[in-house]
Amino acid sequence: MDPFPAVDPIPLPAPVWLFKVLHLFTLSLHFTAVHLLIGGLVLGTIWAIAAWRGGDDSPLREPARQVMRRLPVVMAFVINLGVPPLLFTQVLYGRALYTSSILIGVFWIGVIVLMVVLYSLLYSVERRSAEGKAYWWAGLISIGIVAKIALIYVNNMTLMLRPDTWLEMYRGNALGGQLAMDDPTVWPRWLYMITASLMLGGIAIALTGATAVQDRRAGAYLKQWGALVGAIAAGALVPVAIWVLMAQPAAVGRGLGESAFYNVTRAAWLLLTFGVALVAGYASWRGSETGWKLTGAAALLGYLQVAAWVVLRDGIRDKSLEAYGFSVWAREISVNWSVVGLFLVLLVGGLVAVGWLLKVMLQAEGEYEGYVGGEELPGSDAA
Ligand code: HEM
Repeated sequence: MDPFPAVDPIPLPAPVWLFKVLHLFTLSLHFTAVHLLIGGLVLGTIWAIAAWRGGDDSPLREPARQVMRRLPVVMAFVINLGVPPLLFTQVLYGRALYTSSILIGVFWIGVIVLMVVLYSLLYSVERRSAEGKAYWWAGLISIGIVAKIALIYVNNMTLMLRPDTWLEMYRGNALGGQLAMDDPTVWPRWLYMITASLMLGGIAIALTGATAVQDRRAGAYLKQWGALVGAIAAGALVPVAIWVLMAQPAAVGRGLGESAFYNVTRAAWLLLTFGVALVAGYASWRGSETGWKLTGAAALLGYLQVAAWVVLRDGIRDKSLEAYGFSVWAREISVNWSVVGLFLVLLVGGLVAVGWLLKVMLQAEGEYEGYVGGEELPGSDAA
């Protein structure tokens, strides 16, 4: 019996390769934002705890605040950059993704509740840090929530690749109150996302320290320690990625190994990972001497490394589904070029707007400069 629901009778309005390219590109942006959120939250909270233990004069107070106060904006990017790949995944793999989403329905819908709580916690962290109040506890709860959201996402993206388990799961719990934790690829995939978050989050923190933090002591701290964490996490990603690949069914490993494209992608991923570790390690070693060029180079390599993983991960999905007779390329297509053209124009316009927002965010030092706890600081301009 074919486990997949019937294919939508309406043909695709654009070629599969175009959907694929757009999907992979927008997903690399979503992953980048997710990594910045998780990495920033973990490092910012650790520094906030150390600052709280160190008392009012702790040198970690300002670095922690500089990281945590930016997280609500990062969260907005996580959500908005998650929507486009979700649409493309549904177009290309809806028959698999809808089924897995229903099977874990309670958790899948619960993600919205978790996100609302997380978002409000991040705002309260930002507010409390500006008012000089303790906020490390809210950081810790936020880490727990974001880790759970990531686990639910990993569950769904993994379960959609296992049609052989769907019927049994449905019989076991038709109301969707279950997760697919038995799958051996869930934990390695989750750990990969967390480790990659420490890599890219650390590097982004270093870049923020080099470009957007006016307090020189805090900026130097962020550059040195952010880059160091990024470099170490990049090194740690290699064994974790091997675990992800080894945990795949034999057919998937074989399929990837036989494909020249995925072999090149794997090699590129490895080179980029070493590149990130080297450049970020060097940036950390140079400490306060490090400027935006070095941390910027590490960030660029980091983004390309994330993009390479997104492509490799897509290969895992296609090879997994092919083993069950599902080919994403076998869809009926009826191209509507005027709609495709309009879409591309709007996409470019949207990305330019996002780039501008990012620039503003990175330069947004001093949002609370004139106000602390609602009180105006002496000497600040009342206008
Ligand atoms: C705090 C919020 C979020 C976190 C921590 C998060 C985390 C993740 C993680 C860890 C994955 C990778 C799963 C895997 O590879 O196994 C993922 C994939 C994905 N996320 Fe998010 N996400 C968040 C919010 C969102 C939102 C709001 C959307 C959409 C509106 C979204 C859309 C997606 C999509 C579409 C994928 C995978 C697409 C694919 O495999 O083709 N995410 N997310």
